[in-house]
Amino acid sequence: MKIALACDHGGLNLKAAIKKHLEKSGHEVVDFGTNSSDSVDYPDYSEKAAMSVASGETECGILVCGTGIGIGIAANKVKGIRCATVGDTFSARMTKAHNDANMIALGERVTGIGLGLDIVDAYLNSSFEGGRHQNRVDKIRAIENKNL
Ligand code: RB5
Repeated sequence: MKIALACDHGGLNLKAAIKKHLEKSGHEVVDFGTNSSDSVDYPDYSEKAAMSVASGETECGILVCGTGIGIGIAANKVKGIRCATVGDTFSARMTKAHNDANMIALGERVTGIGLGLDIVDAYLNSSFEGGRHQNRVDKIRAIENKNL
């Protein structure tokens, strides 16, 4: 898969580990930064990765900041993005299966590298179940169309 990655300074190490892991697994990564430990504003990096997913340049995206919260909130402001902040593998699976999430966000200050990589695999190895969940995702899209 072609996967967008982005982080702020709080997610630098986990993003680097995820990038290495994805490339080792044969995925193509588009890295939108940041790539230094200088303090930056997470919306700037989140937007770049989210725009890439929304435009179809990449198939999905993985974001990392200190908590995974701010960078995930920012991504959800881009039309077409459904980004879930996840800290466990069950939620990572379910957000693909039920919400058709096209991005996930993780918190480096919350989640260790081992669990972080398992979360990424759980998300990427799951599929949207459709059916009744399609109707609910359509309703999310309708809210978005009214408000964004
Ligand atoms: C940066 O200090 C921190 O606020 C950011 O990484 C993130 O946790 C915000 O939600």
